Amino acid sequence: MGAVASRSRRSVLAVPASNARFIEKARGLEADAFFLDLEDAVAPSEKEAARANAAAALNAGGWGAKVRTVRVNDLETPWTYRDVIEVVEAAGAELDCLVLPKVTGPDHVRWLDTLLTQIEAATGLEPGRIGIEAQIEDARGASRADDIAAASPRLESLVYGPADFMASVNMRTLVVGEQPPGYDVGDAYHYVLMRILLAARANGLQAIDGPYLQIRDVDAFRRSAGRTAALGFDGKWVLHPSQVAAANEVYTPGQDDYDHAERILEAYEHATSVERRGAVMLGGEMLDEASRKMALAVAGKGRAAGM
Ligand code: GLV
Ligand code: MG
Repeated sequence: MGAVASRSRRSVLAVPASNARFIEKARGLEADAFFLDLEDAVAPSEKEAARANAAAALNAGGWGAKVRTVRVNDLETPWTYRDVIEVVEAAGAELDCLVLPKVTGPDHVRWLDTLLTQIEAATGLEPGRIGIEAQIEDARGASRADDIAAASPRLESLVYGPADFMASVNMRTLVVGEQPPGYDVGDAYHYVLMRILLAARANGLQAIDGPYLQIRDVDAFRRSAGRTAALGFDGKWVLHPSQVAAANEVYTPGQDDYDHAERILEAYEHATSVERRGAVMLGGEMLDEASRKMALAVAGKGRAAGM
């Protein structure tokens, strides 16, 4: 498997495909990526009309450098196959990825890969260009995260779905992303977040955190995002313009960390190529090949953000 997929996804904006006003507004926001939602933000009565809206919004353009994605309905609904066929046939050339929700095993991802391959062949789209993002959001998906992450070369990210996940394990809270009351011995989400992060990284994928629903509380959003950014996640879904700038900032390394990472890379490069040594001191810090890799992870994110 290759390096971690390289598109920027610090902020991934959720846009209901049934809402023309939100679609219009989304074009002007500074999110790295967006998804036009056909799933949980769209009422059952609007599902079919939303497909045409999503395709029209992609074809109309105006999205700048944003990663353009559509979230289809999950495979336990009657809508999924037509979501894929209608959107990709109508707007496949303007689509970067599909987001598949409630993925419970590798078969879901393979199904989508095969369907995309057929549509590409039938319509003359470039083979294999449209990627897949898999949402891990229930106990079944979390327990098979490794198999899911290895299921297709189209995969670009695993996305944690906190709301559905909390419901699936009967967590006793209604506030998505906050600790369940009564659990005071650590972070109730640490295990599932690390499960997703490890499965993603083992397969060269990005790991994306899901939404924070208290959209008026940007400080709380920052705290929630800050925790997954610290673990190594690449970005987070955003539901409101006020969360976009916060996500872009939180998932970009701080200037001090970025400068430090570049200094480590420079010092280590000098040590190995000029001094021919595998370990070197930088100030009071001992550097070796593992330090170079850690520094590259930080510097890579900073460079991608234009630092
Ligand atoms: C997102 O889809 C979630 O369930 O949190
Ligand atoms: Mg969900």
